[in-house]
Amino acid sequence: MNFNGKVVVVTGAASGIGAACAREFVNRNAAVAMVDRKAPADRVIVGFSQQSEAAVEYFRADLSSRPEVERLIPDIVRRFGGIDVLVNNAGIQRYGSVTTITEEQWDEVMDANLKSAFLMSKFAIPEMVKRGGGAIVITGSVQSVTAQRNSAHYVVSKHGLLGLTRSIALDYGSQNIRANCVMPGAIDTPMLRWAASLDSDPDRVLAACDRLHIRGKMGQPEEVARAIAFLASDLASFITGAAIPVDGGLLTPTGGMLSQETGTGGAGV
Ligand SMILES: NC(=O)c1ccc[n+]([C@@H]2O[C@H](COP(=O)([O-])OP(=O)(O)OC[C@H]3O[C@@H](n4cnc5c(N)ncnc54)[C@H](O)[C@@H]3O)[C@@H](O)[C@H]2O)c1
Repeated sequence: MNFNGKVVVVTGAASGIGAACAREFVNRNAAVAMVDRKAPADRVIVGFSQQSEAAVEYFRADLSSRPEVERLIPDIVRRFGGIDVLVNNAGIQRYGSVTTITEEQWDEVMDANLKSAFLMSKFAIPEMVKRGGGAIVITGSVQSVTAQRNSAHYVVSKHGLLGLTRSIALDYGSQNIRANCVMPGAIDTPMLRWAASLDSDPDRVLAACDRLHIRGKMGQPEEVARAIAFLASDLASFITGAAIPVDGGLLTPTGGMLSQETGTGGAGV
């Protein structure tokens, strides 16, 4: 997986999975546009540049805003000459059910998680077509195909991202653009730590997150980034429209891991 000569755009690159993606692509010789609405620590970018000869640059944008995305894409093209890979990863986590959230809270999550990927794809795909094709990888979630309680807007946005993946794969396949969705389980990032901090006993939540997975440990951002890099690479040339769990087996057991713990399929839970 060598991305020499390729321009990779990573959204949500200031933190967590996105930052791990930026590192992964830089280490594989890509030119990387790190996009986020908050700044990464400068030393991160400097550190990347020193590690390799690849060019790395941070672009600030709120991806929920069409004017900002419309300005961002030409900026990236001016800097790097084009776009080959787009990793639509930016997102936020919020909690609530249909009756408890407000219309504004619904819009906030849809805009950050779903509209951002639509807007980035809308303005980046024409640039990819100019280069003869490219690859889009979208960070969905296990909640792209399942639901968690009290997370209605988040769940809907993540289901929507899978629909967006499949639509792009179908509509632009003839122009040599592949689109795939990764579906992470619980990954140890600032987002997950923030979610745990909402509980009176964050350590208990983190331990429960570990136990959701067959291996008994949650994922690291790098483990998702490697899957994203593979899907973005030519090694994945026959994979498009796919939803790939990167979840340590979280989606595997009937009834979830908790119902497996007694070995009797649920008794005693
Ligand atoms: N951490 C997990 O357990 C987990 C599990 C499944 C899916 N995911 C998904 O992975 C992606 C990355 O999550 P993470 O855990 O690394 O979170 P994170 O909070 O560490 O990083 C997300 C980044 O996205 C940026 N962002 C959010 N909204 C933005 C906007 N409108 N414009 C520009 N940037 C914006 C944030 O500033 C932040 O830097 C998200 O889409 C999340 O839903 C995370």
